[in-house]
Amino acid sequence: MITLTLAEVAAAVGADLAGADPRAVVTGTVEFDSRKVTPGGLFVAFPGEKVDGHDYAGVAVAAGAVAVLGSRPVEGVPMLVVPDALTAMGRLARAVRDRLSDLTVVGITGSSGKTTTKDLIAQLLSTEAETVAPAGSFNNELGLPYTVLQATAATRYLVLEMGARGSGHIRYLCDIVRPDVGVVVNVGVAHIGEFGSVESIATAKAELVESLAPDGIAVLNADDPHVRAMAARTTARVVLAGVAGDAGYRAEGVTFDDRGRASYTLIHRDQKADVNLKVSGPHQVGNSLLAAAVAAELGMPLPAVAAALGHLTLVSSRRMDVFDRPDGITVIDDSYNANPGSTAAALRALAGMGTGRRTVAVLGYMAELGDFERSGHEEVGRLAAELGVARVVAVGGPAAPIHDGATGVAGWEGESVPVADQDAAVAYLRDELRPGDVVLVKGSRYRTWQVADALRDTP
Ligand SMILES: Nc1ncnc2c1ncn2[C@@H]1O[C@H](COP(=O)(O)OP(=O)(O)OP(=O)(O)O)[C@@H](O)[C@H]1O
Ligand SMILES: [Mg+2]
Repeated sequence: MITLTLAEVAAAVGADLAGADPRAVVTGTVEFDSRKVTPGGLFVAFPGEKVDGHDYAGVAVAAGAVAVLGSRPVEGVPMLVVPDALTAMGRLARAVRDRLSDLTVVGITGSSGKTTTKDLIAQLLSTEAETVAPAGSFNNELGLPYTVLQATAATRYLVLEMGARGSGHIRYLCDIVRPDVGVVVNVGVAHIGEFGSVESIATAKAELVESLAPDGIAVLNADDPHVRAMAARTTARVVLAGVAGDAGYRAEGVTFDDRGRASYTLIHRDQKADVNLKVSGPHQVGNSLLAAAVAAELGMPLPAVAAALGHLTLVSSRRMDVFDRPDGITVIDDSYNANPGSTAAALRALAGMGTGRRTVAVLGYMAELGDFERSGHEEVGRLAAELGVARVVAVGGPAAPIHDGATGVAGWEGESVPVADQDAAVAYLRDELRPGDVVLVKGSRYRTWQVADALRDTP
C-alpha cells in the first residue's frame, strides 16, 4: 500500500482509534490472513463464522502489523475500530485509489473469461509499465479492494476483475476504483440461478460501462449482441473488438494449429499485424482482441501489441491447459470452472483440436444454473454430440442430463457414458483411452479436478 498514517487510515474508513498512535505509519501491505502480515503492515480482522480474525490480532502485531482494523477493540492491540471491516476495506481502497493520480484502472467483467482476459491484459500492460493485477479470481467486495491496496506510488496500471452475483455488485466495485477503462467479455448464463434471466445479467454487467466517465473507454466484445448493446449505456468512448466487420480491433483470417492455438491478422484502422497465440481455444481470439484493444488504446503500438500477444501464457491454472502425455494422449484441462457458455467454448476447442483424432469430453456438473439446470446440462450434451465428440463422460448424478442431451442427438455415432463419480470416471478413462486421443476435462470447481489430476499423473 501507499504510505499512510493511522490517522489518515482512520479518517478514510471512519474508524475510532483504540490504543493506537495516530502518527504511526503503515508502510507495508494490508492483509486479512495473519500469516501474510509483514513488518509495517495493516491487519484486517474479519468476524468469520469459523475463525474470528480478532483472535489473531495479537499474532499479527507480533508479526509486525502497525495496527489492526476490526469491529471491536482487542486488549493490548493497537486497533482501528469500525462497524464493518469489509466496508472499511472498500473505503480504504477508494482512498488509496484517489491518492494515486498517475494510475490507470482497467476493470473487466463478463460471464466467462474474466480471469483469462485479465491475465492477458495484465501481461501486455506490464511490458509497458508497472502493473498490479490480482492472482486468480479476486473479483468481489473483498478481493478487489485487497488488490487495489497492493498498488503503490510506482504502480501505473491496475487491472481488476469484477464479478457479480447480483445487481449493484459491480457498481459497488466501480465506486471504489472509478475505472478508466471498462472491458466486457461476454454475457452468458453464469450464476443465472441468482439473476433469473440473461437480461438481468446483462444489466448487472452494464454497471461497469455506466460507471465510466466521459473521458473513459468502454472496450466491448463486438461479437456478443448483449455486450454490443451496452454501447448505448455509457457516456465513455466505445471501442469494439471482435471478428465483426465493424470492430475497431478486428481479427481476420483466423486459423488454428493442432493445439487449438489461433493465428490471425490483427487489424486496426490502416494498421495490420500478425498474431500467433500461444494459448489454446477459439475463445482466446476474442479475449486477445479485447486485450489488444486495451493495450493499444492506452498507447502501446500495434506491432508491439501483436508481438507481445504471441508470448502470453496461461497464468491462472486449470484453464485450457493443454498438455501431451508420453503415451500420445493429449489432455485439455479446463476443469477450473464451468457454465454452459464456457463449456461450449471448450467443446469447440476439443472438436477443433481433435480433427483426425478421437475426442473424449469428461463433463461434470455445472453449478448455479437455477431453473436452467436441466436445460443447461442437456444443451452441452447435445452440443458435444453435434460436434461429433466420440465419447461423452457425464460425471456424477447431477450431471446426468448431459447424457440425455447427447443421446438425444439423432445420427450421433459416439457413445455417452454416465458415471457415478470422479473415481468411476478415472477408472473408465484408464481402460478406454488410447494413444492419439484428445481428452477435455471440465466441470464446476472441484467436480472434475480429481479426473484432471489423475490424467496428469498417469504416464
Ligand atoms: N471468452 C470466453 N468465452 C467462453 N469461455 C471462456 C472465455 N474465456 C475463457 N473461457 C473459459 O471459461 C472458464 C473460466 O475462465 P475464467 O476463469 O477466465 O473466467 P472467469 O469469468 O474469471 O470465471 P469466475 O467467474 O469463476 O471468476 C475457463 O474454462 C476458460 O477456458
Ligand atoms: Mg475469474
